[in-house]
Amino acid sequence: MKTFKTDGAFAENYKFLIGSILPRPIAVISTRNIDGSNNLAPFSFFTAISAQPMIIAFCPLIRTSTGEFKDTVKNILREKEFVLNFCTENNYQKVNVASTELPYGEDEFSFAGLTPVKSEIVKAARLKESPVQFECVFRDMLCYGTKPGSGSLITGEVKLVHVDEAIMKDGKIQTDLLKAIGRGAGNDWFKTDSVFQMERLTKAQIQN
Ligand SMILES: Cc1cc2nc3c(=O)[nH]c(=O)nc-3n(C[C@H](O)[C@H](O)[C@H](O)COP(=O)(O)O)c2cc1C
Repeated sequence: MKTFKTDGAFAENYKFLIGSILPRPIAVISTRNIDGSNNLAPFSFFTAISAQPMIIAFCPLIRTSTGEFKDTVKNILREKEFVLNFCTENNYQKVNVASTELPYGEDEFSFAGLTPVKSEIVKAARLKESPVQFECVFRDMLCYGTKPGSGSLITGEVKLVHVDEAIMKDGKIQTDLLKAIGRGAGNDWFKTDSVFQMERLTKAQIQN
């Protein structure tokens, strides 16, 4: 067993986080720049927090190249809203392109060949190529440092859900139709095409 303390370099801790916490779903966050143009970026430090109210969270790290907040964070702190789109088999290559570090104000939708769609209650655009889109209002931000690589947790309340009916059956999203893509260590990505079922058991069933 390798054992190490976490007070060393950012890269060492990061390598073990992304190598052990996987597969990670990918939030593709759309925000509005100060001039009204669109910004898009993927975040795999991402999870659901609460069902009612419906709250999600994702975690942008301070950009290691500049020591500044990423554009997504700057926009959310100013506009107080964003759209959460999902990375799937029909958009993952372009989502990867959208993760490119562009100067503030350059639109990753057009850079990656993705399509913005007007949202209904927030100003940030939805991603047409995502079969599920959540219109979110910013709730909280917890910051865990100011150094490059330090993370923060951003939560948003999902106010409006859009789901492509083509991926639904009996009112539920079908995993095999959503075709979600996840992230692993290094350059590893995951498909979700190896699904199996297992029922949750009661204590009595287990003891029988
Ligand atoms: C699949 C994928 C997942 C990513 N996850 C994260 C993440 O969880 N946190 C983070 O800070 N950056 C993450 N990144 C890097 C950001 O997408 C990248 O820094 C991007 O340029 C940020 O864009 P922005 O400045 O427009 O916000 C990820 C990149 C990819 C390709």
